[in-house]
Amino acid sequence: MTQVAKTIVLLPGDGIGPEVIRAAARVLEDCAAEFGHQFELAEYPIGGAAIDAGLIALPNQTLDACRTADAVLLGAVGGPRWDALPLGKRPESGLLAIRKKLELYINLRPIRLREPLRGISPLKQGRTGNIDFEIVRELAGGIYFGAHRTEAENGTERAHDTESYSTEEIDRVARFAFARAQSRSKRLASVDKANILASSALWRKTVTRLAAEYPDVALEHLYVDNAAMQLVLAPEQFDVLVTSNMFGDILSDGAAGLVGSIGLVPSMSCGLGPPLFEPIHGSAPSLAGKDCACPLGAILCASMMLRESFGLAAEAEWIETAIDQVLSSGYRTVDIAEPGSRVVGCSGLVELIRSEMHASLETLERYGWGV
Ligand code: IPM
Ligand code: MN
Repeated sequence: MTQVAKTIVLLPGDGIGPEVIRAAARVLEDCAAEFGHQFELAEYPIGGAAIDAGLIALPNQTLDACRTADAVLLGAVGGPRWDALPLGKRPESGLLAIRKKLELYINLRPIRLREPLRGISPLKQGRTGNIDFEIVRELAGGIYFGAHRTEAENGTERAHDTESYSTEEIDRVARFAFARAQSRSKRLASVDKANILASSALWRKTVTRLAAEYPDVALEHLYVDNAAMQLVLAPEQFDVLVTSNMFGDILSDGAAGLVGSIGLVPSMSCGLGPPLFEPIHGSAPSLAGKDCACPLGAILCASMMLRESFGLAAEAEWIETAIDQVLSSGYRTVDIAEPGSRVVGCSGLVELIRSEMHASLETLERYGWGV
C-alpha cells in the first residue's frame, strides 16, 4: 500500500472552528498511525482569532504556510464579537482573502444523504430516492469580490455591490464541473439568472459553448429561483450543479438542510494554490465552547482531503464507514438527533468514531486482511 508524507496546515478560526478542527486532526493522526503515512500538522491563526492576537484577518505567516502546504483544513471564521468592524476588516475578509490569494476558484460541496440519517431529512417520509449530488460553486469572483460601496443620497444612504464575471472565470470553473459530471452520472445543471443579469447571460453563453467539448455530458440550464424549488421538490434529479459564488453559497445551505444539517457538509476549494478543505457551516457562536457542535462536516473534510488530494480512497472509505456505523448505532450530536437517539457531544462523537475506526482495522487484521 502506498504511504505518503504530507504537510497539512490547520486554520481553526473562530467559534466552533477550533473544536471541529481538533476532531478532524485526531482522525487524520489516527489515519497516519494506522496506515503508516506521515502527516505534519501545523496550526496558524485566521479570522477573529488572528485579529484578537493583534494581527490582520489573514496574517502573512498564515498565508505563507498555506502556500507551501499540501492541503489546508479550515474551521470557520466570524462572530458577533467582530460585527462592529468595517466590512473589509472583519474575520470573513480573511476567508475571502485566502481563497483569492491562493486562487481557489472552485468550491466543491458534496450533498449526500447518509443512509442512517434518512429519518431527519425533511423529505417526505417513505421517499426512497437517493440524494447524492455535488454543487460546484465559483469561489474567486462574482459579487463577493466586486466593489462594495456606500454613499450618501438625499440625506439617506445607497449601497452598491458589483457582480461581474469574465469569460475566462466562467470557463475555468465550468470545465471542472463538466469533468466532475463525466466522472459521475454525466448530468450537469448550470444555474444562473440569465433572464435578468448580464453576468448570468455570459455565464450561460460560456457554459453552452463549452458543452461541445463534453458531448457525453447532458447539460441543462436552470434559473436560480427554479433551481431552489427543484432542490426542495426533487433533489434526486441532480448529479452536478455549477453556479456563481453567491448562488452557490445560498443553494448549498439549502441543500445541506435536505441531508439533515449544515453541520454535515464538507467542501473542497481548489484552483491554482493548495486545496483548502472547510465544512460549509459557520462559526456558530452560540454553540462554541459547549462541546455540542457536530464534528462530522470537519471529519468529512478530512476524508475528502484523503480521497481527492492525496489519492487515499481506502482511508477515506474507512473513516466514512466508521461514521455511518456510529450513526447507525444511534449516536448523534444534538443538531441531528431524532427521538430515541443517544445524544453525545462533539468530543464524544469523535471518540466513538475513532474507536470504530480502530475496531474495524482489528477485525480486518484478525481475518488476515491486514492493511
Ligand atoms: C461559506 C461562508 C462564507 C462564504 C462566509 C463566512 C464568508 O458562508 O463558506 O459558505 O460566504 O463563502
Ligand atoms: Mn455560506
